[in-house]
Amino acid sequence: MSCERKLLDVIGTRASVRRFRPDPVPDEVVERILWAATRAPTAGGRENWLFVVVKSEELRRSFHRLLVEAHTIYAREIAKMPPERIERWRKLMEEGMYLAPLYIAVYIDSSKLSSESGSEAFMAELVMEIQSAAAAMENAILAAWCFGVGSVWIGVPLLVEEKFRGLLGLPPSYRIMGVLALGYPQETPSPRRRKSPEEVSKIV
Ligand SMILES: Cc1cc2nc3c(=O)[nH]c(=O)nc-3n(C[C@H](O)[C@H](O)[C@H](O)COP(=O)(O)O)c2cc1C
Repeated sequence: MSCERKLLDVIGTRASVRRFRPDPVPDEVVERILWAATRAPTAGGRENWLFVVVKSEELRRSFHRLLVEAHTIYAREIAKMPPERIERWRKLMEEGMYLAPLYIAVYIDSSKLSSESGSEAFMAELVMEIQSAAAAMENAILAAWCFGVGSVWIGVPLLVEEKFRGLLGLPPSYRIMGVLALGYPQETPSPRRRKSPEEVSKIV
């Protein structure tokens, strides 16, 4: 299976999707998405990443429950939403927002870092490992969209990291970088406005 679309068209038409049709994503497409993720640049060529593909009904339901919990914490503690707004959002989530036929949880193994914990080098190394995982996530998102599979990058699992790790039976050194929810969109998403490149760049 190959994607015929041009890269800039894929980039320009992508938008986050939070409501999915229940149809499964074909295995060949999942394979291409994972392949794209592993083609991302990776600091030191280390490929210190793990992509946990969640397809089973039971685990997907558990993931969704945790995503509702994590988004609620986010709404309260980070976005500082008023309680009525949190309740409305919770209801939308309980009705199926973020429930996807496929999730990919992305991890790095912090035990593979080589510099001394707490040192400046350690911080730099950690940031580079995080950035490598982020690059892989973006590659996965774009490859998915190439095949018409929508997605949303979900960062809030960082707020309930231990619970996700427990669900997947991973050792404590595995640190979650985010979860991608993937599936065919219920509605074609409209790309959101962005500041113009001129506003956020300068040529020197
Ligand atoms: C690091 C990161 C974390 C994010 N976490 C969440 C999240 O937890 N939940 C969510 O609904 N969207 C999340 N998003 C998606 C953003 O909300 C979205 O990309 C942004 O609003 C721009 O919209 P667009 O992707 O449709 O262009 C995250 C995006 C990034 C890059």
